[in-house]
Amino acid sequence: MAPSELRTLPFDPTDASFIADPYPVLSALREDTPLVYDERLERWFVTRHADVRACLRDKRLGRNFRHVGTDAEFHAEPLDPRWSEFWASERWSLLWLEPPEHTRIRKLVAAAFTPRAVESMREPATRLAHSLLEDLGETFDLLYDYAQPYSITLICELLGVPTDRHRDLLAWSHAIVKMYEFDTTDEQAAAANEAAREFRAYVQGLIEERRAEPRDDMVSGLVAARVDGERLSDDQIVSTVVVLLNAGHEATVNTVGNGFRALAAHPDEWQRLVSGDVPAAAAVEELIRWDAPLQLFERWVLEDGVEVAGVPVPRGEKLALLFGSANRDPRVFTDPDRLDVARPNAADHIGFGGGIHVCIGAPLARIELAASFEALAELSPTLHLVDEPERVPAFVIRGFEAVRVAR
Ligand code: HEM
Repeated sequence: MAPSELRTLPFDPTDASFIADPYPVLSALREDTPLVYDERLERWFVTRHADVRACLRDKRLGRNFRHVGTDAEFHAEPLDPRWSEFWASERWSLLWLEPPEHTRIRKLVAAAFTPRAVESMREPATRLAHSLLEDLGETFDLLYDYAQPYSITLICELLGVPTDRHRDLLAWSHAIVKMYEFDTTDEQAAAANEAAREFRAYVQGLIEERRAEPRDDMVSGLVAARVDGERLSDDQIVSTVVVLLNAGHEATVNTVGNGFRALAAHPDEWQRLVSGDVPAAAAVEELIRWDAPLQLFERWVLEDGVEVAGVPVPRGEKLALLFGSANRDPRVFTDPDRLDVARPNAADHIGFGGGIHVCIGAPLARIELAASFEALAELSPTLHLVDEPERVPAFVIRGFEAVRVAR
């Protein structure tokens, strides 16, 4: 239980006006307190950069608790059996696992994300960004027409997944990520469950194809892999491929949307990219810092004796780490609300997480986003918004429904 003197959260994470611009509210909260317990959401919210970073690195905290305790001990609702397809797709996801299972599967995935493999994506990324932009007209949707086909194609290429179902992959992923928000309705959960069913069946089909005819790609690699002499089960491979495909485009696409919206509101900063004064790779770090595509990740307290910001937080409690707040912490970033594409320490943002779950795709995301913004600045230097984009009504996965632009 939480000490009664702690106040409740001064915002509703599902409120549209908060989602439109959460930063003034987050700033006020962060300067007021490093930690706040919310009775309604039954979570402790962590607001400052140093504490968020420390939590990410703390091995006594986990993304999951089911390897060390029961639902009752952790005051958690049992997994709703109506959404069994969704839970099955998560069961072996890197984001659901803790050591030792996490360590074993992460090692296999890391073997495919070698610096060489990721670096080899730089040229195809640039080529793809150019060819997509060259084929587009005067006005287009930066997300649907550019960022989505771009990111999906690159992650599919890296994994060896065909791109002919790329609109299905996007639809499945968009439905599934609704399960990570605070206010998921039964209708959304049912849609996520159906998407997980279709997605799993699709990946199972791919596994069977690669088992029959192996290729030089990651799906074949996972099919052939042995960990401690044992093969991965099909369920393990399915979860691994699903998490890589979903994580491989959701946040990168939203970084393009959030990032261009930020640059459009700061034309001088956009000009620094267009003129080549500031490399796109540097700007990408600032864009992730300034308007993070992932605003919050959670951790369970797995052991007794944990303190956060000097406050004891008992085993069984849940922490919500506010990335967007940490990324605007003036203790780390001077004048944090200012967008400065050449900010020297922008890469100290929390955007890619930290500790054992640190984003395995971060090197790929950095290459991909740099090539994307470089191509935009070079081929469409007069790019501007046609109208004010509309936010997706979600706090955790922060993005726009569409970003209509003209050049
Ligand atoms: C701007 C783009 C991206 C951002 C901001 C981002 C952010 C993150 C964050 C914060 C985490 C850690 C979550 C936690 O600690 O609870 C994470 C994990 C992960 N990311 Fe990314 N990501 C991005 C792009 C990618 C890409 C392109 C891939 C593709 C391979 C990817 C694959 C993953 C995977 C598989 C994990 C789980 C790692 C684990 O649990 O061990 N991400 N990402």
